Amino acid sequence: MNDKLIGKIRIAVFVSGSGTNLQALIEAQKNETIKSGVIDCVISSKRGVYATERAVNAGIDAYTVVKKDFIDQSSYEKKLDDILTEHGIGLIVLAGFLCVLSSTFTAKYEGRIINVHPSLIPSFCGDGFYGLHVHEAALARGVKLTGATVHYVNEITDGGRIIMQKSVRVYDNDTPEKLQKRVMKQAEWKILPLACEKVCNLLMSEKE
Ligand code: GRF
Repeated sequence: MNDKLIGKIRIAVFVSGSGTNLQALIEAQKNETIKSGVIDCVISSKRGVYATERAVNAGIDAYTVVKKDFIDQSSYEKKLDDILTEHGIGLIVLAGFLCVLSSTFTAKYEGRIINVHPSLIPSFCGDGFYGLHVHEAALARGVKLTGATVHYVNEITDGGRIIMQKSVRVYDNDTPEKLQKRVMKQAEWKILPLACEKVCNLLMSEKE
């Protein structure tokens, strides 16, 4: 094994889309914002997404595991688990991952799964709050500040303990699309790598 990797937490990033948050993690690893962990594999829930291409371009093992190819949730999660075990994964990062994981799975990885959500939890979160819907709801309510949250994942959608948050201004002429871009750029891409390093560091110290 490369000496530089010894002791580092191996990270799996779960994706479903364009993978801009994955890209932020890859850049953070390059510039050593992430230094206690190493991105070891990427698992996509959808075929043909750009996130997979980003992983391959960065030399990271990429897998596509589509839920409907399995007879049930537990055989789907068994496949995920097999990949994680094969890679010796210590931390799972959900970065725009749109599949729901069972409580059996989240309990198995308790304290070792984190997610980025594009609002200031507990606002605009939970079932149905994903993608543009989150920003549509924030604009409909008229909030003047929104943002992003990185949190631990448990059996409640967006319900795990909060690790990091960053606020973002909302402007009068915002559209959901404009707001989504601003939240990603000013908050998600910044706090996800920082939170990832924080958790890897914690997990590393627990190993010692
Ligand atoms: C982000 O807004 C993230 O917060 C949400 O899904 C989107 C994923 O975007 N969970 P990307 O695939 O990282 O570009």
